[in-house]
Order: sequence, then structure tokens, then C-alpha cells
Amino acid sequence: MAKPVLAPECYTQQRWFELEQEKIFGELWLFVGLKTQLMEPDSFITRDFSGVPVLVQNTDGELYAFRNACAHRGMPIQTEVSGKRRMTCPYHGWSYRGNGELRGIPNPKIYNFCDAEKAGLRLQAYALQTVGQFIFINMSATPMALTEQYKPDVLKVLEVLSEHFSPYASYTHFTTDYNWKLNFENVVDWNHVKFVHERSFGPSMEYLDPGYIASAPREGTFLFGEGGPLEHVQFSQDPPPGEEVDLTDLSRFGRAYFAHASRWFLPMLENAFDVTGSLTCSLYPNVNFGCIHGEQFYLQQFVPISPGQTEYHSWMFTARFKPGVPPQPQLLWALHHGEKSVLEEDIQLLDALQRGLWSAPSIGIMGAHEGPLNLIGRWYLKQLTGETLA
Ligand code: FES
Ligand SMILES: [Fe+2]
Repeated sequence: MAKPVLAPECYTQQRWFELEQEKIFGELWLFVGLKTQLMEPDSFITRDFSGVPVLVQNTDGELYAFRNACAHRGMPIQTEVSGKRRMTCPYHGWSYRGNGELRGIPNPKIYNFCDAEKAGLRLQAYALQTVGQFIFINMSATPMALTEQYKPDVLKVLEVLSEHFSPYASYTHFTTDYNWKLNFENVVDWNHVKFVHERSFGPSMEYLDPGYIASAPREGTFLFGEGGPLEHVQFSQDPPPGEEVDLTDLSRFGRAYFAHASRWFLPMLENAFDVTGSLTCSLYPNVNFGCIHGEQFYLQQFVPISPGQTEYHSWMFTARFKPGVPPQPQLLWALHHGEKSVLEEDIQLLDALQRGLWSAPSIGIMGAHEGPLNLIGRWYLKQLTGETLA
């Protein structure tokens, strides 16, 4: 057993929140959305990372990320969550090229800028990288390599699974009243499933003595099975205790047995590539992604708003449809509705957990199976304070 690494104040106090903004969200690669959301020229999405407005825009088929702030007075260039529109500021009409350079200023004479002033006018660009359908941005002036954050096997899983994504997704976001870290810890904490989700998907899992969740056999999936593109990926394991924690150790994936039920939309899918299991993949700092039976994908992101508030983003989509099958919005709504009721089971629990943390003198105790949570805490403390715990 071990004491939890983090004190309650890490989940409640503004000074920790500000340190996180600088040392985690200011330095790490952050998921922003799916390429399937930005397939059309001039399509865009906007996001907010703790007060930093971010714009991802498709210009002539290329994706670019910017601080969503006009070089003139800082007005957001795009004001909707998503849409299709060129990069022209709605305030005074300044327009920008795909790479963020200033394209034009209406009535330029009224500004009377000299050449040197004009030369510096552009949108602030952020690094952007895609892995399969996943779009990541990095707001650091000197971004680390993506491979410093995610192991090659994790990136490979994202890339290979992306080939199976349908381009139609249901997406929503809402606010919850707890610290973002509780949600990331919760998706790593498999032991809660049996108790919190006992009336939803908990009974679909299989539990081994003394309580571990059974993993899914590699047979029954042409991705992970013999000869499949993911045959040789290594499912995540904890590094031996005491070893220095590496950032890449914090993102994990695995496959769990999940009882198969024949579902009415199966005949519409091109293939269901994993009949025995569900895949879960947690991507540090704040994404949870998974796939059930190779039929249905869920994607969640936990974006901090304040120490006690999180903006919860949720996507739901299926595997690709057979050629000729039209979009199925009613299917996506039904699946997402089901997903939301499962998420609610966690959200109510985490709300209550956070309420206790505001006044908690400490956080109890952890057992051996909670090693991954301790890894996350150890890396967090080192990153934010330089403090190393054994
Ligand atoms: S703030 Fe954008 S044109 Fe004025
Ligand atoms: Fe859960």
C-alpha cells in the first residue's frame, strides 16, 4: 500500500491550477479534435484551453492551428465552436492567409501602419500534428517531439484504428464540477467499473479472481490477432516501482473482454474488427478513447476551466459504413445518449469526490493495483515542482 502522491490542494487550489496551465497544458501536446471534423476547405473548430482560445482551420486541405485572436485588437477570428468560414476577423474585417499571415486590411490608410509595423502582423501559430484522425496541438514556443509524450505503440494504435473511423461523429461538451485530474484518474482506475457501472456496462466485463478485469484474447480481432497490423504492440505495463517515471508511461492502452451482443446496426458496418473485446486507451494529460467490439468508438476529453470545474468533451462514432449506406444521425444520437448515461454514473461520483476534497486534510491510502495513479501523481509533482518521489 502507498499514500497517494498528491494532496487535496492539488485538486482545489488556484496556485496548482496555474502551475498546470504553464507546465502541463502549456508544454504538452493536446488533443483538439478529429480530422473528420475538418474535412472541407475553410472548415474550422475552436477550443478553449483554460482561457487560451485556439482555432484549428482547414485552408486548401491543410490544417493550421492558431491562437484564436486577431492581430489587430484580439477579437476571435472564428466565434463558433465549429463551422465553415474563411479567416476574416468579424470586428474590422482584417483577413488572414492559411498560414496566418495577414492577407488584407480594409481601408488600410486609416491605420497608417509603417512597413515594419505591417511585417509583424499575423496570427500566432501553434504546432499541429496529426496521428491518423487525431489532431494534436502544442502551445509551447519549443514543442517537444510527440514521441516524447506517447510511445510508438500508442501512436500506432491510434493510427491503425483511425482507418476504421466513420467520418460521421456526434459531439457535445458540457461543464462538470470537479477537477480534471479526477476524471483522468477515473478512466485509469479500472476497479471502479464493477461498482459504479454495475447497472450499465459492468456486467459485460469478466472479472478474474481476485477482482482483476479479464483481458480479451487476441483471437477474434484481425487487428491484434496473428498477422494483424497491431499483432506486435505491447499492452501497457507499469514500470518497476522506484524507477524514474517517464511521460510516456502515463498514456496506456489495453483490451478487456466485453460480452458480445448482436446489435441492429451491425449489418451497416463495413466490418466489426474486434468481436471479443473493448479497447481502452488513456492519453495523458486528458483524453480517454476506446472502442467496443470494433463497432463503436467513444472519445472523451477533460479540459480544466478552474480548480473545481472541467469542460467535458465527448465524441461518439461508429466504424465505417458499407459503401452506399447514408449517414445515420439517429444511430449516433442513440449511441451517444447511451454513452451519456454511462458518463453520468462517473460524473455524479466525481462531483461528490470533489466536494469532499475541498475540506479534506489528506487523501487516504492506495493499494498495489493503483500503481498507475501513483505514476501519474509522481510525474505531475516532478513536472510542476521539480520534486522527485521514490
Ligand atoms: S480586432 Fe480584428 S479586425 Fe479589429
Ligand atoms: Fe467509469
